[in-house]
Amino acid sequence: MNDTIARDEPAAAPASSAQPKKVFVKTYGCQMNVYDSQRMADALAAEGYSPTDAIEDADLVLLNTCHIREKAAEKVYSELGRIRKLKAERGERGRETIVGVAGCVAQAEGDEIIRRAPVVDLVIGPQTYHRLPQAVRKARAGEKVVETDYAIEDKFERLPALRKAEVRSRGVTAFLTVQEGCDKFCTFCVVPYTRGSETSRPVAQILAEAQRLGEAGVREVTLLGQNVNAWHGEGPDGSEWGLGQLLFRLVEVPGIARLRYTTSHPRDMDDALIAAHRDLPALMPYLHLPVQAGSDRILKAMNRRHTADDYLRLIERIRAANPDIAMSGDFIVGFPGETDADFEATMRLVREVGYAQAFSFKYSPRPGTPGAEMPLHVAEHVKDGRLQALQALLGEQQAAFLKSRVGLTMDVLIEKPGRQPGQIVGRSPWLQPVIVDEKAGEIGDIVRVRITKTGHASLFSEPV
Ligand code: 5AD
Ligand code: SF4
Repeated sequence: MNDTIARDEPAAAPASSAQPKKVFVKTYGCQMNVYDSQRMADALAAEGYSPTDAIEDADLVLLNTCHIREKAAEKVYSELGRIRKLKAERGERGRETIVGVAGCVAQAEGDEIIRRAPVVDLVIGPQTYHRLPQAVRKARAGEKVVETDYAIEDKFERLPALRKAEVRSRGVTAFLTVQEGCDKFCTFCVVPYTRGSETSRPVAQILAEAQRLGEAGVREVTLLGQNVNAWHGEGPDGSEWGLGQLLFRLVEVPGIARLRYTTSHPRDMDDALIAAHRDLPALMPYLHLPVQAGSDRILKAMNRRHTADDYLRLIERIRAANPDIAMSGDFIVGFPGETDADFEATMRLVREVGYAQAFSFKYSPRPGTPGAEMPLHVAEHVKDGRLQALQALLGEQQAAFLKSRVGLTMDVLIEKPGRQPGQIVGRSPWLQPVIVDEKAGEIGDIVRVRITKTGHASLFSEPV
């Protein structure tokens, strides 16, 4: 027997449930998954699981997965292949490893995952995370567990409340899910199927969570939702609130100095939300507002329910409310039926808007969505060429935006130590990392600096 192993596993310490257990969580996909992973880790902490960054030490391995494009979904299976070897190795050392798949692949594929990857012990969809501790207990007793129904109970009510110490270890910025799911049914998208229909968390629940974040030292909160600007709820006065009203209330939470929200749909940008961009200095001047394409024919086929012109006019109104606002977006190239002329319309729209930041993807047919069944799929090499052209243009715009910050004086929220001694790193109102002299302040401070030059995607500064 290898003596390293003998030292790891002293004979005097028989495996018992009292032994501290470790969980390794790997997160794929969007920010909501990042938030969910934290909530799952918190729920497991109550069960005696402490988080680890070393997968080989983990008694529980949890993959929080993304189904948005085929590539994202396939990554899970290659990771499960590696985990199978790991589980076997740990097994040889007499250690149990529970393997769980959570997130949108879990929701979309259910028990099919266990058929394809028998290493998996438990599959749990995004609407049932509050049942995770119980599911883990069952899996440890040898059961294969699949939890993918849309639970009627409110998972947020049943998940343990955020604990101060846990929040503190995460830093001065935090995500807060306020809305989940989607009723828009864009024809390319799996989200309405994986995350279910649109639901908003109640005001009181959101405020309580924001309060906790503020108490734990969080300065900047990003409200999350697949359709975050469709959020609505009943305000304390009994009236119907939209996201704009909620933002106005959230700035009153002690400690919280900055607010952001993502991701929005153009159809749900109402007047109150646009007014918040004018009247609420704590609301950062940055808006992620995906348009996906610039051709009306393609927008219609995508079921976006707005035209390119609707989008452009909306941005005009937003910029009239706050000229400082930086735009960000998502684009899909090569949707079925997209011609060169359609793609040119996307390029024109991008030129017209001028984005500070953007994400662009090749269309990926997703099983069960209407787009996958449409005729005239675009050849892969055509998608490649269009993506390259679009990304070159967006890259130029991003660089131009960065350059336009040089010489400006701005407030930066200090987030972490820098890579070089003497430096700290903060975040600009427009989301770029800013390198700051460490004498300027401490983590959690908002300091005023002047931008001196640009880095690759970051900004350098001097104190003012
Ligand atoms: N193929 C390619 N990109 C997609 N997105 C969503 N579904 C698909 C798909 N089937 C992109 C959209 C969305 C972002 C989160 O992912 O641009 O806004
Ligand atoms: Fe991926 Fe969308 Fe699910 Fe987020 S909601 S994890 S982006 S499929």
